[in-house]
Amino acid sequence: MWSVVLLWLSCVPAGLQAAAVYRRDVPHQKVEVYSVTLDCTVTSRFAHTVMTSKALNKANSSQEIFFDVDLPKTAFITNFSMEIDGQLYVGNVKEKEKAKKQYDKAVSSGQTAGLVKASGRKMEKFSVSVNIAALSSVVFTLTYEELLQRKLGHYEILTRVKPQQLVQEFKIVVNIFEPQGLAFVEAEASFLTNDLLLLVDKTVTDKKAHISFTPTLEQQRTCPGCEGSIIDGDFIIKYDVKREKSLGEIQISNGYFVHFFAPPDLPRVPVNVVFVIDRSGSMSGIKMQQTKEALKAIFDDLHEEDHFALIIFDNKIIKWRKYLSKATQQNITAAQSFVKRIKDNGSTDVNSALQEAVKMLKNGHRKNTIPERSTDMIILLTDGNPNSGESSIPVIQKNIQAAIAGNMSLFCLGFGNDVDYSFLDVMARENLGLARRIFEGSDAGLQVQQLQSPLLLPGNLA
Ligand SMILES: *[C@@H]1O[C@H](CO)[C@@H](O)[C@H](O)[C@H]1NC(C)=O
Ligand SMILES: *[C@@H]1O[C@H](CO)[C@@H](O)[C@H](O)[C@H]1NC(C)=O
Ligand SMILES: *[C@@H]1O[C@H](CO)[C@@H](O)[C@H](O)[C@H]1NC(C)=O
Ligand SMILES: *[C@@H]1O[C@H](CO)[C@@H](O)[C@H](O)[C@H]1NC(C)=O
Ligand SMILES: *[C@@H]1O[C@H](CO)[C@@H](O)[C@H](O)[C@H]1NC(C)=O
Repeated sequence: MWSVVLLWLSCVPAGLQAAAVYRRDVPHQKVEVYSVTLDCTVTSRFAHTVMTSKALNKANSSQEIFFDVDLPKTAFITNFSMEIDGQLYVGNVKEKEKAKKQYDKAVSSGQTAGLVKASGRKMEKFSVSVNIAALSSVVFTLTYEELLQRKLGHYEILTRVKPQQLVQEFKIVVNIFEPQGLAFVEAEASFLTNDLLLLVDKTVTDKKAHISFTPTLEQQRTCPGCEGSIIDGDFIIKYDVKREKSLGEIQISNGYFVHFFAPPDLPRVPVNVVFVIDRSGSMSGIKMQQTKEALKAIFDDLHEEDHFALIIFDNKIIKWRKYLSKATQQNITAAQSFVKRIKDNGSTDVNSALQEAVKMLKNGHRKNTIPERSTDMIILLTDGNPNSGESSIPVIQKNIQAAIAGNMSLFCLGFGNDVDYSFLDVMARENLGLARRIFEGSDAGLQVQQLQSPLLLPGNLA
């Protein structure tokens, strides 16, 4: 006996909807979905969404439980896990073509596998199903990330919800943090009348917004005593950032840094950026290739009045040039051919390389080779587990924070599946920056392609 529950939740930019596919022909009374939560955190337009669905097989025999999610192609799945009767199964996020082959193999041998398939031109469907024993439960957790795009004067987070039954715990929570400041934040839902809209809790301060929607079982009912749920449609948050204060801002998309170096509404403040590039032996192969692609994309965004430097490190430090260079086309071309020739070798001394980057920026100011009124930043690209020079993580974090002393921002890109990501994350946050991961198996081509869209479309910046 089969029973199907399809949950369809997504946190997608405007205009990226597709039709849901429901199998209404199959009864699902014996599967109780007792919790559906969507937790979306947006930082500088970068949305990180965690969707959780908990279901119980109330039948006296085992049956298949489905978890389907539609998400935009611009989103990038970073994690998926299932917990079945307390046992956790963490999925492997694979590059698409490989995933398809492994999926077919897993399915034909009776294993559980999740797959992302195209679903319309702009959407992808993530589907997974698992056979659950009688009276057992399953928790699905899907994490994905995406860069919101500005359209018609605002950013939009669209959450589409259709639990198809009353849910004991139903929760949508969205937290937004925009360092530039929030101009406005609005929440609306296609399925809520004005009365019910009062159930949406919204708190907005200068830079932060918190929106939550947590209807009780009673509030979900179409009428008193009815079993139908009103929750069926779009839950939308629209917001915009304050434009007038934008400086050289950096944004991160799917593991790549995306720059808004050129806000259209202000003479921009020049940027001085030192790239600190790990070329240790462990960076060989796809990681090094992704590093080069990311650098190429960022170079494209530099403006002529900016300055930049490259530090390559393993257990030693190699500088492209001793000082920061003006980002003229000629200098960028020279830097690009230097980057092309980077070869992996040696161990990893993150501490010395970052200290050197700080020193270069300080020297630039001291010697007046970079403009007085400018923004300093360091971008570290590593798969880093420091294993040369200073290798104690707390000591490195302390050293770098002391060296930077709040005068620069540090952004970290962590490559590969073994990176000590919390090391990078903490260090970036301590120094006014952000960290991102790039998974080795992920689709590098797609990620680079996505870089283009938010970057240069005037409509998205204006
Ligand atoms: C299982 O449930 C079906 C109907 O829901 C019932 O007919 C059957 O007797 C049950 N079997 C057991 C072993 O409880
Ligand atoms: C993926 O999710 C599982 C379960 O929540 C967690 O244990 C694991 O650390 C996550 N993996 C990553 C890479 O975040
Ligand atoms: C390259 O950068 C240096 C240092 O800022 C600058 O003096 C030089 O004019 C630049 N070269 C070209 C060709 O733009
Ligand atoms: C790799 O590192 C070793 C040890 O530091 C060094 O002897 C060797 O010359 C390096 N090779 C290249 C190609 O840089
Ligand atoms: C760094 O910032 C502190 C205060 O934020 C300031 O006192 C100090 O002069 C700055 N140092 C440099 C080198 O700019």
